[in-house]
Amino acid sequence: MTEHKQTAHINPEGKEIAETVLLPGDPLRAKFIADNYLEDVVQFNSVRNMFGYTGTYNGKKISVMGTGMGVPSIGIYSWELINIFGVKNLIRVGSCGALQDDLNLYDIIFAMGASTNSNYVSQYNLPGHYAPVASYELLEKAKNIADEQGQTVHVGNVLTSDTFYNADETAAKKWSDIGILGIEMEAAALYMNAAAAGVNALTILTVSDHVFKQEETTADERQNSFTKMMDIALNLA
Ligand code: ADE
Repeated sequence: MTEHKQTAHINPEGKEIAETVLLPGDPLRAKFIADNYLEDVVQFNSVRNMFGYTGTYNGKKISVMGTGMGVPSIGIYSWELINIFGVKNLIRVGSCGALQDDLNLYDIIFAMGASTNSNYVSQYNLPGHYAPVASYELLEKAKNIADEQGQTVHVGNVLTSDTFYNADETAAKKWSDIGILGIEMEAAALYMNAAAAGVNALTILTVSDHVFKQEETTADERQNSFTKMMDIALNLA
């Protein structure tokens, strides 16, 4: 009998996981992507309802799986995808809160860097401060795809925060003042796991809220911006 690889969190029962995996935070978003964008879809994970699927996009194999929210959760799933299941390209497709005035709801951000208030990096015992960054290869490819599609994107540093609700009300302004584009909660852990294993990672975000401005949007705008982000991410496969 063949031994199938499995972990406490991912049990594909022998089903394939592609070398390129899209990673939304919400497992139902993973299902939505599989249902609406992929062909020949096979579900490879349902442990803890963290749904994962493998299918094809334009004939190329690609997987999509939820990560849950926050550094510990994406830390677990991305580590296992990389180190147990051999995934080489990990592309987070998520949302963030904007920190800059020139950013609007549903703008797209490529997280070139992921500053963080998380302690995830301490496990590596480095003699200094590590700068978690995207894979240049994926970042350049994503920018080229966006340019070809005529899509405006913002490229820069984001904050991976351990808190959504922060007791220190001055923190967001300080990160804004030093040029951080937006706040999210996962990219830095993804980048560190990828760097430690020598594989590629990129985080693509749509702005879901503005930390300093009240803005109103429509359901159409939300769907359009998600479609724009997916058009870039899927073409990275
Ligand atoms: N994800 C989306 N909006 C966010 C915010 N304001 N803070 C942290 N993570 C987010």
